[in-house]
Amino acid sequence: MSTQDAEIKCPFAHQTFPWPRDAHAPLDPPSQYAAVRDEGPMAKVELWDGSSAWIVTDMEHFREVLTNPSFSASPLVAGFPFVAPARAAQSKSYQTFITMDPPEHGHYRRMLTREFMAKRMQELRPLVQQSLDTLLDQMEKKGAPADFIKDVALPLPSLVISIMLGVPYEDHAKLQKWSADRMDLAIAPEALTRSAKEMTDYIDQLLREKEENPGDGSDLLGRLAAEWVNPGKLPHAEAVRMATLLYLAGHETTANQIGLGLLSLFQHPQQKADLIADPSLVRATVEEMLRFHSITHMNSNRVATEDVTIGGQLIRKGEGVLALLHAANHDPVAFPNPERFDIHRENNGQSHVAFSFGIHQCLGQPLARLELQVVFETLFKRFPNLRLAVEFDALPFKSQSFVYGLRELPVSW
Ligand code: HEM
Repeated sequence: MSTQDAEIKCPFAHQTFPWPRDAHAPLDPPSQYAAVRDEGPMAKVELWDGSSAWIVTDMEHFREVLTNPSFSASPLVAGFPFVAPARAAQSKSYQTFITMDPPEHGHYRRMLTREFMAKRMQELRPLVQQSLDTLLDQMEKKGAPADFIKDVALPLPSLVISIMLGVPYEDHAKLQKWSADRMDLAIAPEALTRSAKEMTDYIDQLLREKEENPGDGSDLLGRLAAEWVNPGKLPHAEAVRMATLLYLAGHETTANQIGLGLLSLFQHPQQKADLIADPSLVRATVEEMLRFHSITHMNSNRVATEDVTIGGQLIRKGEGVLALLHAANHDPVAFPNPERFDIHRENNGQSHVAFSFGIHQCLGQPLARLELQVVFETLFKRFPNLRLAVEFDALPFKSQSFVYGLRELPVSW
């Protein structure tokens, strides 16, 4: 069906993208993805502002787009596709290495690579464990039913990233609010701009204090100040943006993944029992959660900087591409029966793209994996009868968020 000259006609061209999920299957990708994949696997869709962009729905071409230097991750390049007005409003004013191209991208990313290496993660493990234990103690003390999102899934990554960065945890409520605003696709652009400025001002002030007093090097902001900003190798404003990115990227994402991951285990009691019986399954369980939920379902967006052919389809310079990792992770060629949550899948960790692919692949993935593994190693040891306290149909999903998840997850034990 694909050809150089004729554009693939999207059977859902009349439905503005992003497409809603089926209310009866809120964990599955929108059903249109499979239909496009069967036909294309790419198609042109219409966005909220009347512009159009290509969607990529299969694994092969997802990887091809994200490794092809003819695509830019910068929202400043004309034609970059925004999935909502809120994304357009923030992306133009908020540039950091996640939206940069080589060589700038690598220049900044390399400054942080060391922070996420295996050795540092091992050093962090006791902190993650201790933070989780404290949150579970508090949840138990308050008594059932509890909202697992509010009591554990959100505060854990928030606590860990705050300690890692050197951000005072007593400020977490406002940081959590600012982070949630950034992920909200329905927020008014003016409200988002205000919220983003408040967060920038806060991090700006904090970093100035670290520049004056970097401390003993035990937190990331102190190290950033001492090793890069103070010697003049990194401008202060750029360091503020990098720190903001780390807080944002390391918080809502992991929190939503913890919530949805737990929900999937509730829905599959046999797999939950298998995990309890064999704790070595925790790694595979976490990888399947990452694949199945693909929570950053609107990543990874790019724009062509020159004419380029992908899968036989000509994409012209200035055309936007939405490489849908959620769709790629549900490509049946890559994962047989993709709509089945299955912790016994083989080699999943090496092949899913929940953290994307190519040069922008998630820098914080070792931390996300660490937190998820500690949660799912600990939870059922501590609460073997942990269960959903409401009907599945009563659960509130975040339908208007850049990161998919649950607003609440009531549990009993
Ligand atoms: C389950 C949790 C997480 C998921 C699913 C996730 C997903 C992603 C994805 C898909 C990208 C690529 C975006 C693109 O292609 O444009 C990305 C980039 C990134 N993530 Fe994560 N992330 C998670 C947790 C974290 C954590 C814990 C941190 C750090 C504290 C983090 C830091 C970053 C950074 C810095 C980038 C930009 C990398 C670059 O552009 O080179 N992420 N993440």
